[in-house]
Amino acid sequence: MSNVSRAWNIDDLRRMASRNVPKHFFDYLYGGANSETTMQSNRADFARWDLKQKVLVGIQDNTTDLGTGYLGEQHKLPMLLAPIGFAGMHHHHGEIAAGRAAEKAGIAQVLSTFSIASLEEVAQSHRGSLYFQLYMFRKRELTEHMLERCRRAKIGTIFLTVDTPFAPVRERDERNGFRARTSVSPGMLVSMLRHPLWCLGTLANGMPNVGNCRPYPELGKSLMEQAVNLGRMIDASLSWNDIGWLRDRWEGKIVIKGILDADDARRAVDQGIDGIVVSNHGGRQLDPAPSTIDILPEIVQAVGGRTEILMDGGIRRGADVLKALALGATAVLIGRAYIYGLGAGGEKGVARCLELLAGEMRPALNMMGFHTIAELKAAGADALRQNPWFGRSGEAGDQETVRPNRRGGPLTAVN
Ligand SMILES: Cc1cc2nc3c(=O)[nH]c(=O)nc-3n(C[C@H](O)[C@H](O)[C@H](O)COP(=O)(O)O)c2cc1C
Repeated sequence: MSNVSRAWNIDDLRRMASRNVPKHFFDYLYGGANSETTMQSNRADFARWDLKQKVLVGIQDNTTDLGTGYLGEQHKLPMLLAPIGFAGMHHHHGEIAAGRAAEKAGIAQVLSTFSIASLEEVAQSHRGSLYFQLYMFRKRELTEHMLERCRRAKIGTIFLTVDTPFAPVRERDERNGFRARTSVSPGMLVSMLRHPLWCLGTLANGMPNVGNCRPYPELGKSLMEQAVNLGRMIDASLSWNDIGWLRDRWEGKIVIKGILDADDARRAVDQGIDGIVVSNHGGRQLDPAPSTIDILPEIVQAVGGRTEILMDGGIRRGADVLKALALGATAVLIGRAYIYGLGAGGEKGVARCLELLAGEMRPALNMMGFHTIAELKAAGADALRQNPWFGRSGEAGDQETVRPNRRGGPLTAVN
């Protein structure tokens, strides 16, 4: 565990996590699809927008409120923890630790189907808002059974992820032999043994596996077997017709995650969907695809006011959150950023991540002339200014800058 109070931004947490977590898990978290163009533009395109400063507006101390409502509940921050597969491999009981940090910060957690802790374990571990991320499997009975388990665990909202019908090449994983194999390679074993503290924590309660798969022994016993078999079960032939199937079987809220196109957003609204997540899976699927901050205004224009529009991708700064909200997002999902916190310091690290983002948002919001998120949302895009130099300077922002490694090979994280 690192001393996360020494982290001053998400990049610091990322560096700490990269030292604590075996390489194949860290690379799996960090990386994107193919040339990682989308992953990089998710970050870089935030620079298109500047926050407009307003002075002498008489902001009173202690009146700032970052609270906001989403999916029918009031939350203390306009954020949610995104579903991240294998989060529990970045810290023991990772999903539970993250959920507890989310509860304390007053935000919701979206639990991945591919979590290490089962949905039942996470639901029992905290009293905060918990949503479940669902995949539609070819064996519909499996999806139905997961819905039933959510119901029993009192989860009322599901996020149906629709942007993973096919598995693109993620070069970092290919090199590490991760996700394609059903057993641990010698390289992975070495990388785990190089992190004895991680081994002690993660393996203390036996070999980890995909918690949500435990009731289905036919999917295999080990983490890697289950991950491969479950991944193969995702229904690539899913179509809009299947959304009705889900609606008939789920009385709670349904959010579609992975919308990147205005027409698709309209179709989701026509199907009576409660919310969408404008997402490209953190640049891990179609590459190159539009960055989410770039496509967000188009989607807001198409369906804004008719459904809730959440967004994720590349959020590493409080200002990023403010930009997304000004452009019409109800709230944003935090992805890699909180897992860096988890890898750096477990629950404390996730709490630090949220504290850093909120700590940046508060003064920025005030300097923009607002006390509340509601005021920012009411001002909308008028609260921002398009940077006339965007795209000309070649600057990609300060976080997660990437550069070719010395051998001229694949891009590697700058640590
Ligand atoms: C390691 C990793 C695993 C992920 N696993 C899932 C998943 O199981 N289900 C899902 O819907 N999205 C998954 N995502 C996508 C995230 O929910 C989210 O869309 C993305 O991380 C946002 O981008 P950011 O990481 O730049 O914030 C995953 C992302 C990462 C980085």
